[in-house]
Amino acid sequence: MKKLLVVDDEQSYRQLLSLVFESEGHQVYTASSGEEALKILRKENVQVLISDVRLPDMDGIQVLRLSRQISPDIGVVMITAFATVETAREAFKLGADDFVQKPFDIEELKVIVRKVIEKQALIDENRAFKRAQRERGRITNIIGNSPKMQAVFQMIETVAEVQSTVLITGESGTGKELVARAIHELSSRAEKPFISVNCGAFTETLLESELFGYVKGAFTGATTNRKGLFEAANKGTIFLDEIGEMSPAMQVKLLRVLQEKRVRPVGAHEEIPIDTRVIAATNRDLRSLVEEGSFREDLYYRISVIPINLPPLRERKEDIPLLVEHFIKKYCEITGKSLSISKKAMEILENYSWHGNVRELEHTIERAVALERSDSIQPESLPEHIINYNPERIRAEFTLPDEGINLFAHLENLERTYVVEALRKTGGNQTKAAQLLQMSVRSLRHLLDKHNIRSLSAKMRNLE
Ligand SMILES: Nc1ncnc2c1ncn2[C@@H]1O[C@H](COP(=O)(O)OP(=O)(O)OP(=O)(O)O)[C@@H](O)[C@H]1O
Ligand SMILES: [Mg+2]
Repeated sequence: MKKLLVVDDEQSYRQLLSLVFESEGHQVYTASSGEEALKILRKENVQVLISDVRLPDMDGIQVLRLSRQISPDIGVVMITAFATVETAREAFKLGADDFVQKPFDIEELKVIVRKVIEKQALIDENRAFKRAQRERGRITNIIGNSPKMQAVFQMIETVAEVQSTVLITGESGTGKELVARAIHELSSRAEKPFISVNCGAFTETLLESELFGYVKGAFTGATTNRKGLFEAANKGTIFLDEIGEMSPAMQVKLLRVLQEKRVRPVGAHEEIPIDTRVIAATNRDLRSLVEEGSFREDLYYRISVIPINLPPLRERKEDIPLLVEHFIKKYCEITGKSLSISKKAMEILENYSWHGNVRELEHTIERAVALERSDSIQPESLPEHIINYNPERIRAEFTLPDEGINLFAHLENLERTYVVEALRKTGGNQTKAAQLLQMSVRSLRHLLDKHNIRSLSAKMRNLE
């Protein structure tokens, strides 16, 4: 059943056409003037307009033009007693679907209207198809054929239009930011900004003014009003990366923003309403941070309504060849080279453990593409530790003694050893040490405090 609108100033025609199309199963509206017709078009979602060219207040061509403005996809059949080539041509130019001359054969008009309706169904289908294609295109930059990644794609599509906060978890380099962007791109917010904020990179007060903005005079240096990122991302998406690094005071403020959908710039009295979607990410186990007491439980529940966990690369090894090909193509395009990969090199890549996940794989390929002199990537262009990686050997280093071990104490020890080693290797440079351990500086400092070795990095620097 479709909604049809018949516009004719002659009552007999209106009655006739109503009867005819109602018996075809449609809902028929009638109007005797252009104005009346437009009123109905604005109110009802009419699919087919059947209009006389001559109307008392405006001509049918005008009705056609205005009706297209109101609903661009409407099907239009023009009827006239005075068909001139001119009006017919103009009507077609404005997108009328067909043109009938009075007096007309009812059966003929029925066929015409049926065809118009069929054409619309085709357009709808085509549009849905194109939309689906476009959407798939938008996540094609995320590579992965494994069932685990297919499940992730499914989630991305499902949550795109949902308004609640999404929490993306996963080890470093698994593609959390990529997924956050894909969710944004697939949502109706796609045309609006996507703003990414690394919560671990700011001090508490800086983060607050970055996120919420400030007013002139709020603190020394605040010489003008400044918009916060929440406001800048209004109607779009804000990506709060490393949310686990947020200080307790900021956590309270964020929770309030999520609940009230308003932000208060630093130093302001008024709150500003915002419509910003929040996607958060962390490579830490938020649940255990909650248990430890360093992450608020209420905020945790608020942001983890929809969790998406990205599997580490070593749990989806079947994706490695695809990713390798993808990155070879990417870096060949950048460097203007043309390379394939040898079977041996691919085998090595497939066997490696990839604790830095896709990011580490990408860097490895980037480097190999730059180094390779032959026309296919050879093992020699891969880093030594990857070539020599041998899971058997590593397992041998970790034999469990017969008398057993105190696992927690042992792990604490191991953790401390790695931190000290990272500081030693980097001459006490905390930023570099944190990078080596693939954690944020804040997390590193947390470990320094925990093991009571904060003074160590200064000592290491002095040794240099
Ligand atoms: N499935 C994938 N397909 C293609 N490229 C990927 C994929 N996953 C990650 N990458 C690439 O790997 C790099 C790291 O991804 P991203 O920055 O999204 O990781 P992350 O999980 O946010 O890491 P971190 O926790 O360290 O911030 C990026 O260059 C990204 O484009
Ligand atoms: Mg990231």
